[in-house]
Amino acid sequence: MIRLRGISKVYSIKDAESGGMRDFHALRDVSLDIEDGSIYGIIGRSGAGKSTLIRCVNMLERPTSGQVFVNDMEMTSLSGAELRTARRKIGMIFQSFNLLVNRTVYGNIAFPLELEGWGKSDMRDRVREIASLVEIDGKLDQYPAQLSGGQKQRVGIARALANRPDVLLSDEATSALDPQTTKSVLRLIRDINEKLGLTVVLITHEMNVIKEICHSMAVLESGQVVEEGSVLNVFTRPEKSATKEMLSHVIHSPLPESFADLQFSKAPFQGADLTLQLSFFGTLATRPIISDLARKFNVDINILVAHIDHIRSTPFGTLVIQLSGEEKEAALEYMLDMKLKVEVIGYVARSVELAS
Ligand SMILES: Nc1ncnc2c1ncn2[C@@H]1O[C@H](COP(=O)(O)OP(=O)(O)O)[C@@H](O)[C@H]1O
Ligand SMILES: [Mg+2]
Repeated sequence: MIRLRGISKVYSIKDAESGGMRDFHALRDVSLDIEDGSIYGIIGRSGAGKSTLIRCVNMLERPTSGQVFVNDMEMTSLSGAELRTARRKIGMIFQSFNLLVNRTVYGNIAFPLELEGWGKSDMRDRVREIASLVEIDGKLDQYPAQLSGGQKQRVGIARALANRPDVLLSDEATSALDPQTTKSVLRLIRDINEKLGLTVVLITHEMNVIKEICHSMAVLESGQVVEEGSVLNVFTRPEKSATKEMLSHVIHSPLPESFADLQFSKAPFQGADLTLQLSFFGTLATRPIISDLARKFNVDINILVAHIDHIRSTPFGTLVIQLSGEEKEAALEYMLDMKLKVEVIGYVARSVELAS
């Protein structure tokens, strides 16, 4: 378990106007619990404080106040040698890979083992083992400059894992990679998480990364956690506008362009149809909902848009339907009572042709 308790980080920065120094709060009272063996994503815009936060986990950055616990060890209380020992159990990977350019792939992966004083033959076995896990074993004699971005990050991952850490920290590890390579590196991180059972904390500015591999997530904005929970919950019930904005890039807007010209009214009027957007996930299938409504209420249902995506491997869908008939408000009440996220788009005159 990784526990952050009331973490704040204040930098002293130069004030542009006065020329003097002033305090800048990069993190404000951040508290998070990260379950053992989970993949935890922290997302936020550039400058939100993500790198500062993840560096507080292994004390590359010391919080101004608050406590950090990794496996019940209070990192914030350690210093010097104790901290160096504790850090061995926390691997880290970076956007810019941070490989040693004068060393081969073998030399890069062996580096942390050399620092720990491993014997030559144990070291060779371990480097080969971990290189094969990340599928870079064919490149052990090459230098970083001879590798593609994806291969460099595989070396970075191998080096981070060499000491058998319990925790892997990833600071935008896929941000310098193309979409295809990003997918393969994310798949590798997911495999490692499953095979080795280590806890992964990753920070990113891309919702797609969260969607692909994370179990839980937090949204960081101006140094504060503004939203937190399971990825399914945050994706299906985002509360903050920052979250909704970031989600709009990964969850395709289900409203067809032809809707833009329509006058939706929030209030019902004579001869109007009720247009709704439903979000559902997991095993909650669409068909029972629709047939249920048709059976229970005197309504006609028209499906305008249906879209299904996946969060990790869980289906996540959006449906836009239009209800007409006497009991459409009763049907709406019924849906609100169920475990469904229902958003009223509005009432629109029935004669309007909506099909796009
Ligand atoms: N060492 C530092 N000194 C002063 N300000 C810093 C320092 N490190 C980061 N900052 C500031 O803190 C804020 C958060 O930075 P960072 O954690 O790198 O954000 P992110 O990784 O989300 O882009 C930024 O405004 C950045 O300029
Ligand atoms: Mg950063």
